[in-house]
Amino acid sequence: MTQRKGIILAGGTGTRLYPITIGVSKQLLPIYDKPMIYYPLTTLMLSGIREIAIITTPVDQDQFRRTLGDGSQWGISLDYITQPTPDGLAQAYILAEGFLGGAPSAMVLGDNIFFGHGLPILLQEADRAADGGTVFGYHVADPERYGVVDFDASGQVRAIVEKPAMPPSNYAVTGLYFLDETASRRARDVTPSARGELEIASLLEMYLADGALSVKQMGRGYAWLDTGTHASLLDAGNFVRTLEQRQGLQSGSPDEIAFSNGWISADDLIKRANQFGKNSYGTYLKRLISET
Ligand code: DAU
Repeated sequence: MTQRKGIILAGGTGTRLYPITIGVSKQLLPIYDKPMIYYPLTTLMLSGIREIAIITTPVDQDQFRRTLGDGSQWGISLDYITQPTPDGLAQAYILAEGFLGGAPSAMVLGDNIFFGHGLPILLQEADRAADGGTVFGYHVADPERYGVVDFDASGQVRAIVEKPAMPPSNYAVTGLYFLDETASRRARDVTPSARGELEIASLLEMYLADGALSVKQMGRGYAWLDTGTHASLLDAGNFVRTLEQRQGLQSGSPDEIAFSNGWISADDLIKRANQFGKNSYGTYLKRLISET
């Protein structure tokens, strides 16, 4: 199988978080001690993916480039693609068609944050599936805010419904999609929904119709955090703070994951740590080196 490539969808208007996001992209807002995009980026890195495209609005692209660079500091490559207007999640596959060049993909939404013991294994299993698509169902209290899985009586997936007024289950589809190389071609056949977007649910329905969609459960031992409202943004930051302070370990550090994946050397990590000087991130990276 051709090596899977990654996409981080980090465009959108962010209007729900106005006035904060008038001047800065939502996916660059802090989640405690790191920019939000570090978390989905590390989700892809934990899947073993090293070629990643970041889709942003035209106006925000420079800030993303300044924040993340070309990825070489982490032994990965980062490409940047613009989405002129937020025409829907499925459009990402059309915009990224050239970048993907016929490779399968893992797309993560730039505002989705995942934690959990065993996450790398879950991700690497999804990566190994050569054909079709894999998405993750997560039990939530408020499924009407998400794409929702509709199961039949035997537990088979019957449909994926976007923001249903009457949710058929409590299982939301998380913003992480492992799709095979047919995604861009299929996305071209998606027609805009009533709200004018190329819906990811429509693309997933195409896979489902071909019997090619696997919905894996992401169980309660995982945290899938929401950043869609002011309160949930703060909650996500507090969650990371609680975890990091208790463990003395960082969550969502691309430097740490690049090092533990063997994509950068100890010397590379020292250089990076020195760039951060004596601040807490630099101190943490230096400690990582001394502990290994
Ligand atoms: O978070 C998971 C949910 O994400 C899924 O359960 C839903 O099926 C999926 O539609 C999506 O729902 P949201 O309500 O979160 O979608 P939203 O329009 O807020 O877009 C999600 C992120 O993607 C957001 O950070 C902005 C970005 N985005 C969105 C659109 C529509 C883009 O970059 N470009 C776009 O065209």
